Order: sequence, then C-alpha cells, then structure tokens
Amino acid sequence: MRRVIIAGNWKMNKNISESMELANSIKRALYDILEIEIVLCPPFTSLSDVKEIVMDTNIMLGAQDVYWEKEGAFTGEVSAPMLKNIGCEYCIVGHSERRQFFHETNETVNRKARALLKEGISPIVCVGERLEDRKAGSTFAVVKDHVENSLAGITRDEIPKVVIAYEPVWAIGTGLNATRQEAQEVHKYIRGCLSAMHDEEIANLVRIQYGGSVKPENIKELISEPDVDGALVGGASLKADSFVQIARNCIG
Ligand code: PGA
Repeated sequence: MRRVIIAGNWKMNKNISESMELANSIKRALYDILEIEIVLCPPFTSLSDVKEIVMDTNIMLGAQDVYWEKEGAFTGEVSAPMLKNIGCEYCIVGHSERRQFFHETNETVNRKARALLKEGISPIVCVGERLEDRKAGSTFAVVKDHVENSLAGITRDEIPKVVIAYEPVWAIGTGLNATRQEAQEVHKYIRGCLSAMHDEEIANLVRIQYGGSVKPENIKELISEPDVDGALVGGASLKADSFVQIARNCIG
C-alpha cells in the first residue's frame, strides 16, 4: 500500500514569524495524524525554524530547490548535504515555475534528484504539460519526456524513495484543477512509464501526487482515484485551515 503524501509548497511566501505561526497551527491540528504523510516546504529562510516546530511530530520538512554540487564556489546555491543537515526529508525539484523562470531542464532536475538521493533525501519531482501541449494532444509525450529524463540513471533501489508530482501547468494557481479522470489518466500513464523503465513491482511502490488548484473541496475525489497518492498543494497550503482540511479529507 502506498502511503498518501500531502505536501505544502509555500513558494516565495511567509517570513520567519509567519512561517512559524503557520507551522504551529498545522502542528496543533495534525500532530497526531499517522495515516498519511504531511510535508511542509517553506522557503529556505524558514527551514530551520519550521524544523524546530515539527521536530517531534510526524510532520516532515521539505525544501523547494537544491543545487547538485556538494559545496564550493556556487554563490547563492544550497546543497543537498546542507538540506540534510537542517533536517529536510524531502525536496521539490523541477517545479514548472523553476522550469519556466529559471531555465530548469530535465537534465538539471535529474542532477538535483540524484544529489538528493545520495543524501537520503526524497526528491519530489514535478512533471506536467502546459496548456498548449494539452491542446496539441502532446500531454503524454511531454510527461514521458519529463519522467524518463528527470529520473534517468536513478537505480531500481532508489526509485521507491522518489515522489512524482503530476502538475499540469494550466492548473497551477488558476483555480482550474484537472478532473479526477484527467488526473488518473496521466497518473496511470506515469506509472506505466516507471514500469517500462524498471518493472511493475517497483512502479507500484512509487507515490504520484497531483498538484494544481487542490482545495478541500476537490481533494476527496482526486485521492479516490487508484493512482493518485497525494497532493502537492500551493495556494491552499498558505492557510492552516485549508491545508489541514485537505489532509483530513484524505483520511478514511
Ligand atoms: P496551486 O499550486 O495549488 O496554487 O495551484 C500548486 C503548485 O504549484 O505546487
């Protein structure tokens, strides 16, 4: 059985005190939840304060990006050993905003994912088509390209530690979520890609999150699909009430 994983991607929001307030509210509401996994991904500047808050709970810490080198003259970058040191168990890589605004490619996503796995950190690898890709009928081709090339060279042993987030770009921050059928169709396709790259047994262990306008109102139907194993939540993760409700709606 794959354990449902709900991650909050706070993006470039929340200063330290705001982060602490949000993390504390989420902790008060969800500290005793064991059925599903909860991950908070604040900006780098709040990681250590949020870690202090969630330290003795089942809530995990995630970063939003990483650089693949271990250390050295790479001004502005943060390495996987540094994230490990601060207590991160997860790190988002290849988010569409990074692909769009920061020239992230499958190759750099792949380097980042591999650097994280070396430190025992689980990469949350984002994949997904743009609206023009969907309109052109190339959703599967784009997703296949993202999955195969972002995960190239990751071994059979390492693959179960990877989380894939299917985030159709047209659904991010737009209020237009994919329907449960649209999500399931692509999630199933992604599992098929993993199966072709490795085998079915391993593919069945990998968790595939859906991301894009997830809200308390739509999570139940999305999560009820067989290949949807959780959600990567942006806007609705910035308020404790909505994030907590999304998590609670995944239980039972
Ligand atoms: P959204 O963002 O929930 O605000 O659509 C999701 C994401 O970008 O991870």
